[in-house]
Amino acid sequence: MSTVEGQTVTLSIHASPGEAGEAAAEQVADLVRRNSAAVLGLATGSSPLPLYEALAKKDIDLASVAAFALDEYIGLPAGHEQSYAAVIRTHVIEPLGMTPARVHIPDGNPDDEELAGEAYEEAIVGAGGVDLQILGIGSNGHIGFNEPGAPFSSRTRAVTLAERTRRDNARFFDTPDAVPTRAVTQGLATIFEARQLLLIAHGAGKAQAIRRALTGPVTEDFPASLIQHHPNVTVFLDRDAAALL
Ligand code: GLP
Repeated sequence: MSTVEGQTVTLSIHASPGEAGEAAAEQVADLVRRNSAAVLGLATGSSPLPLYEALAKKDIDLASVAAFALDEYIGLPAGHEQSYAAVIRTHVIEPLGMTPARVHIPDGNPDDEELAGEAYEEAIVGAGGVDLQILGIGSNGHIGFNEPGAPFSSRTRAVTLAERTRRDNARFFDTPDAVPTRAVTQGLATIFEARQLLLIAHGAGKAQAIRRALTGPVTEDFPASLIQHHPNVTVFLDRDAAALL
């Protein structure tokens, strides 16, 4: 493992996704040991799975922890196995022994999208804000489902998915057309308000995105670049994802 302390971003580079996940899990565990009622921000996708698996093996009580998921597809039937509600139940709530009522996930079938977004923002504020936000990164630089062009001032809202994101996520669905076209996501301003960000990426397919996020211009054309301005960021990578740094 090598660690490079930057002005704001700490890089933590590992031989494998499993080792990166273990190191990231230790950072989450350290927070929860200090504050058993910490508020986590949860990412879905494949990147954080090794973190969740490593955290589940630790002797740590997460029953009092609260959590807010980053995003959810719009329009999938309730209980659909690729809905983020189902993914978070299977990969996070159950293995980690979290309390379901304390884990919030945006409603993918809201009666009023605008009100639902505002209510989610209020719930985060009501919980005292997110202490530690776990993030993956899309190959096009999205975080949550904030696609290129999303305003840095954005809040939780409904968005249209980029075609590249739908193609990237087609592997989780029976057919490419089955990938929803819209989603609800925490905004970039929402994410930025978390007190600590923990970004995870693995594999050569993410190397370019990691290079742009960490060393490219900070621009709404590449949403993940915003993390360069956050005061407390740790980026956990395997060697392949770090290859272009
Ligand atoms: C998905 C999610 C993001 C996730 C990203 C990367 O579409 N909305 O929150 O970080 O894409 O996914 P993966 O980790 O599977 O590469």
